[in-house]
Amino acid sequence: MRTSIALAFCVSGVLAQAPSLTDLIASQPDLSTLGTALGSVPDLAETLAGLSNITILAPTNSAFEALLAQADTPESIGVNSSDVQAIAAILAYHVLNGTYVSSDFSETPTFVSSLFLPSFDGSIRTNVTDGQNVGLTLDGGNATILSGELKSANVIEEDILAANSVTVHKIDSVLTVPRNASTTLSKIPDVELTAALGALTAANLVDTIDSVADLTIFVPSNAAFTTAASAFANASIETLTSVLTYHAITGAVVFSSDITNTTVKTINGNDLTLSVGADGTVYVDNAKVILPNIVLSNGVAHIIDTVLNPEDEVENPTPAATPTPAFPGATAIGTDVPFTSALGTSPTRTGTASSVPTSTPSPSEFPGTAAQVKGALGGAVIGFGLAMML
Ligand SMILES: *[C@@H]1O[C@H](CO)[C@@H](O)[C@H](O)[C@H]1NC(C)=O
Ligand SMILES: *[C@@H]1O[C@H](CO)[C@@H](O)[C@H](O)[C@H]1NC(C)=O
Ligand SMILES: *[C@@H]1O[C@H](CO)[C@@H](O)[C@H](O)[C@H]1NC(C)=O
Ligand SMILES: *[C@@H]1O[C@H](CO)[C@@H](O)[C@H](O)[C@H]1NC(C)=O
Ligand SMILES: *[C@@H]1O[C@H](CO)[C@@H](O)[C@H](O)[C@H]1NC(C)=O
Ligand SMILES: *[C@@H]1O[C@H](CO)[C@@H](O)[C@H](O)[C@H]1NC(C)=O
Ligand SMILES: *[C@@H]1O[C@H](CO)[C@@H](O)[C@H](O)[C@H]1NC(C)=O
Ligand SMILES: *[C@@H]1O[C@H](CO)[C@@H](O)[C@H](O)[C@H]1NC(C)=O
Repeated sequence: MRTSIALAFCVSGVLAQAPSLTDLIASQPDLSTLGTALGSVPDLAETLAGLSNITILAPTNSAFEALLAQADTPESIGVNSSDVQAIAAILAYHVLNGTYVSSDFSETPTFVSSLFLPSFDGSIRTNVTDGQNVGLTLDGGNATILSGELKSANVIEEDILAANSVTVHKIDSVLTVPRNASTTLSKIPDVELTAALGALTAANLVDTIDSVADLTIFVPSNAAFTTAASAFANASIETLTSVLTYHAITGAVVFSSDITNTTVKTINGNDLTLSVGADGTVYVDNAKVILPNIVLSNGVAHIIDTVLNPEDEVENPTPAATPTPAFPGATAIGTDVPFTSALGTSPTRTGTASSVPTSTPSPSEFPGTAAQVKGALGGAVIGFGLAMML
């Protein structure tokens, strides 16, 4: 009893003396670059000073150095160095709205909102109404932060307290600001999604999925499209659009940990059945989520193992190792990956929606996009900004 009273007294004594966020950062030699970056965006720094109950993910100096080292040379960056909004946006992505201490991290990732809101109007944007998300998880026992393109940063010093119930975790990488769906899905390691990207291109839906607010999209893998290739060989553009819009929800950014057994209305208008198996695996109709929680500039993508069929709304999905085909009777056509045969052969998009209802896939815009985004844009912007400051 005596001990716990003494401890409580001690703890409250520490809280009362916690330094301001600015003073805390200034007191940590390995956060001097962060201090400089915040100094370059006084509006954001002032906002942060007035907030309580927030969590700062503080990249160390070596995290910023690593980012600068991987950025392209300044001549090739081609960004507007006076776009302080972009620097502010990147820093705001490192501020969580709420207190998240190390004991809140668990093996199941939790996604939480940052202060990077759609109101940031620079070249780096989000269209997640409640603030762009980061994931908090334990990886091999280490507290880890998940950001765009499945990149992760490790917490290397945790639970440092500043005044106003501000919690600071030092992290070893700068978070990757999520980019739009088409860019992100072309950059996910180890998963080929060119069929889905080609199909979206053929249906003229790329701009929509890249920009619509608060998107949750289920993206079939190339294997999923390949297995059902005959169903799409001669599909009309209307059919293709109907199928693809059955894979997306707007108005809710749904991470795997938020999913319960429920139905949700898709952009198509038909309902999708979501369910969670005993082992936590998420199913969408009869498709299994094989790679969840890819954060996008405007929401989240989950990769699934089967193309969903809007004509085949599933009432009671049966989780199984081998998915029930959503397009009964559909088969592979040799080794053809649908919608991809023109990928990489033409840098310009020449197909239009009406010109591609047959088995000829539209030449895709993606090869050009991939070239344009060489080198992380987020990294480039802050890298350039910091290079100017340092
Ligand atoms: C750079 O950004 C600033 C502020 O956002 C803007 O005023 C200026 O016009 C931009 N310059 C160019 C060349 O885009
Ligand atoms: C933080 O979250 C609270 C709800 O928990 C909300 O009222 C507030 O607007 C949020 N602040 C920002 C800056 O997003
Ligand atoms: C602080 O944030 C946490 C996590 O978001 C929330 O549960 C709690 O209610 C907040 N407390 C206050 C006083 O706002
Ligand atoms: C956890 O962190 C330790 C120390 O930083 C590191 O050696 C180890 O590789 C990390 N484990 C994982 C799974 O990342
Ligand atoms: C998606 O991002 C790429 C790369 O930054 C960009 O070229 C493209 O215009 C973006 N698309 C939309 C609809 O914003
Ligand atoms: C954000 O979403 C809204 C509604 O879907 C859309 O009208 C707007 O163009 C989007 N903004 C950006 C920057 O993509
Ligand atoms: C697609 O249409 C062509 C021409 O009518 C036909 O030869 C082919 O068998 C059709 N393919 C499939 C998979 O139905
Ligand atoms: C959710 O649905 C799955 C598949 O139908 C079932 O196995 C599971 O028991 C359900 N969970 C709950 C909590 O009802």
